[in-house]
Amino acid sequence: MILVTGGAGFIGANFVLDWLAQSDEPVVNLDKLTYAGNLENLVSLQGNARHVFVRGDIGDTALVERLLSEHRPRAVVNFAAESHVDRSIHGPEDFIQTNIVGTFRLLEAVRTYWSGQLSDEAKAAFRFLHVSTDEVYGSLKSGEPAFTEQHRYEPNSPYSASKAASDHLVRAYHHTYGLPVLTTNCSNNYGPYHFPEKLIPLMIVNALGGKALPVYGDGQQIRDWLYVKDHCSAIRRVLEAGRLGEVYNVGGWNEKPNIEIVDTVCALLDELRPRTDKKSYREQITYVKDRPGHDRRYAIDAHKLERELGWRPAETFDTGIRKTVRWYLDNQAWVAGVTSGSYRQWVERHYA
Ligand code: NAD
Ligand code: DAU
Repeated sequence: MILVTGGAGFIGANFVLDWLAQSDEPVVNLDKLTYAGNLENLVSLQGNARHVFVRGDIGDTALVERLLSEHRPRAVVNFAAESHVDRSIHGPEDFIQTNIVGTFRLLEAVRTYWSGQLSDEAKAAFRFLHVSTDEVYGSLKSGEPAFTEQHRYEPNSPYSASKAASDHLVRAYHHTYGLPVLTTNCSNNYGPYHFPEKLIPLMIVNALGGKALPVYGDGQQIRDWLYVKDHCSAIRRVLEAGRLGEVYNVGGWNEKPNIEIVDTVCALLDELRPRTDKKSYREQITYVKDRPGHDRRYAIDAHKLERELGWRPAETFDTGIRKTVRWYLDNQAWVAGVTSGSYRQWVERHYA
């Protein structure tokens, strides 16, 4: 049994689906179901006894302690977080609460369980894997080498600062209490179930809806893209064989300027779902005011993970982005659900 937090969100849901497809080991999935958590991502698991879903907060110590005592997981994988940079700029409070205070309380509950309730053998085998981001390293200038695990922390947004704080807490719990932790710092993910507030799904959904495609600033900011299933395989590999207390950068060696990403999405949609007027979706691109404090470039050096654990991404950007655009075209009902608000009403009724 493993305990996954945030397993109804974008990456967490992909992780839970892949885990249950590839292993017999059950999952307890603790998720608060914020606007970003979506049980429709997990609809294929309905009736699957190996998936136990619990709506709740990682900061709810009594609940987390109960789940740990009841299910006795051999590992905790912590995806739960507020994840959107723009939201953190407009309202940082939730980010502090979940990403910092929530992670702290989760660590405390896990420490109590790990130190007091496990046999020596189970204690030695236990793992706490914290899922983090490349944004903690700050912004790179053109020509600077990609982020290694030794790069100093220089978070620039309330989101990345809150993730940096959580990484430091995880590190400290290993150093001080000996909690067996692992941390992964990954680049930008894309793929199925990505909430359409983030660049790639927003561009697909807006393009199909005949809306503007808002490119911030000059569109020359660079992100390093990784197909979400490759992130999930990296986390599984680190959980299986990562060295305790170590940090592993995860990335796909796919640095691209934002405008190139938007252009690629438009080209794929032109091919797969042409506009009725036969014009390109590029016509909808609109340059808008830049994000405050916008990091110019991220790039991940994933050599350590490749060298030590033999991990490689399975998708190139070309194969991954085609799959992604195809998935959104084939899953318009999912898009309608997350954008219409009807799903939110269901959550509030169901968990009232
Ligand atoms: P997401 O916003 O899609 O999902 C987050 C999930 O956490 C949601 O299901 C939400 O309901 C849940 N959640 C939020 N607060 C909670 C709380 N207090 N208690 C329990 N559950 C809570 O995010 P994502 O893109 O899937 O990211 C998952 C993790 O991976 C985050 O920690 C993020 O920092 C990290 N990460 C994301 C990316 C990326 O490109 N998306 C890249 C690197 C790292
Ligand atoms: O690098 C990993 C991080 O990637 C994760 O830790 C975050 O959780 C995740 O949200 C993502 O952060 P970004 O800020 O890089 O992702 P976002 O999709 O919001 O933006 C990607 C780039 O596109 C960024 O340079 C801002 C730009 N952008 C974004 C949106 C939403 C636009 O130009 N227009 C937009 O409408």
